[in-house]
Amino acid sequence: MRSRRNFLKQMSRAALAVGAAPSLLARALALPQSGSTDKPGIDTPRIDMPGEDGLIVRSFRFVDLETPVEYFNTWLTPVSHFFVRNHMHEPTELSGDVANSDWRLTVGGEVDKPFALTFSELSKLEMHSVVNTLECAGNGRSLQRPQVPGVQWGKGAVGTARFSGPRLRDILLRAGIKPTGKDVMFRGLDEVPGKVPPFVRSIPIEKALDSDTLVATHMNGAPLTKHHGFPARALVPGWIGAASCKWLTEIKVLDSEFVGNFMSPGYRFPNQPVKPGDAVKPEDTHPLTGLSVKSVIAGPLEGASLKAGKVAVHGAAWAGESNVVKVEVSTDGGASWNPAGLGRDEARYAWRLWTYEWKAKSGEYTILSRATDSAGRTQPATPVWNPSGYLYNAVDQVKIHVA
Ligand code: MTE
Repeated sequence: MRSRRNFLKQMSRAALAVGAAPSLLARALALPQSGSTDKPGIDTPRIDMPGEDGLIVRSFRFVDLETPVEYFNTWLTPVSHFFVRNHMHEPTELSGDVANSDWRLTVGGEVDKPFALTFSELSKLEMHSVVNTLECAGNGRSLQRPQVPGVQWGKGAVGTARFSGPRLRDILLRAGIKPTGKDVMFRGLDEVPGKVPPFVRSIPIEKALDSDTLVATHMNGAPLTKHHGFPARALVPGWIGAASCKWLTEIKVLDSEFVGNFMSPGYRFPNQPVKPGDAVKPEDTHPLTGLSVKSVIAGPLEGASLKAGKVAVHGAAWAGESNVVKVEVSTDGGASWNPAGLGRDEARYAWRLWTYEWKAKSGEYTILSRATDSAGRTQPATPVWNPSGYLYNAVDQVKIHVA
């Protein structure tokens, strides 16, 4: 049977060949057309792919699916609603029967005893769980002005899940790290098309040895799905999603940071503030690590028309390795701010849900949300522009009408 990925691949090739507009592709895939949804503020094609329901398609070339913000109403994001970010094709040869396959996780480089684990051996190691908000560094890129190239994510390349698996540190300590070991490199089993460089990145040894950094095999209590890295992925909590390599097959201790496309020029941030539109030299940048402080309004949705009376303005807020300490909401375009109530569920690297009860009178409104974290960071009023549009975290806003 033809796989969904191959189908998508063929469709995107066909579309490119004939110069078809995305709407034609959407029609071919039986997706809702732009503007045809009944939800305000959402006018992009949705997809129903096995395991991923009702997500927004951001790229047909590879599987890049965004979570609509109205799904940010549960502390844990169901896997079927969790965004997907792939730089290339998902591996075809990995099946559910990984225990009997020739899949191995190799551990080598600057270590005393390199070794390889079968999936059964990996599964026997002590498991640890971390609830983590995973956000793509490019989330919100489409909101940058001037616009920047790359997948044009709206607000939903983010989700929260309970990831479980052995600690990376237990695996590294078993191999014995040499004093020369400074960084830990991950290699994924993605199928690399044409001249695209493989997805290989590294993290500093200190973060690799953190007791919350995992080789995750499970997400929300179930084995990882293929879209999210089956059978194993790195989970680097609080850091940009790119640090958490999917379809993990190799862990290598290096004596310095890995040199490759996804470390440089990819996923780097200017050392100094940049004037919007200006170029930045590679030597004036550093690799991205932890996420920024950020809140997103999950309801009411952009363009909503509501009745006067009680309105629950609600959403989610996160801050990478820091804690969210405060979320404020403005219903008068930023002239005054009111504290939102934070949800009960919390964990070190996880978002907090928040709600503000507003007594709405008729009129046109711009509602804003702004989070502050334990490191003293607050969402800026204007986006921090950078050439790749990373870490967009300006104060969120929706325009609504109250009748
Ligand atoms: N790992 C591999 N092997 N290949 C990839 O393309 N994408 C990264 C990361 N790990 C990627 C990867 C990026 S940019 C992000 S944001 C997260 O995976 C997304 O994880 P998800 O698809 O499970 O949501």
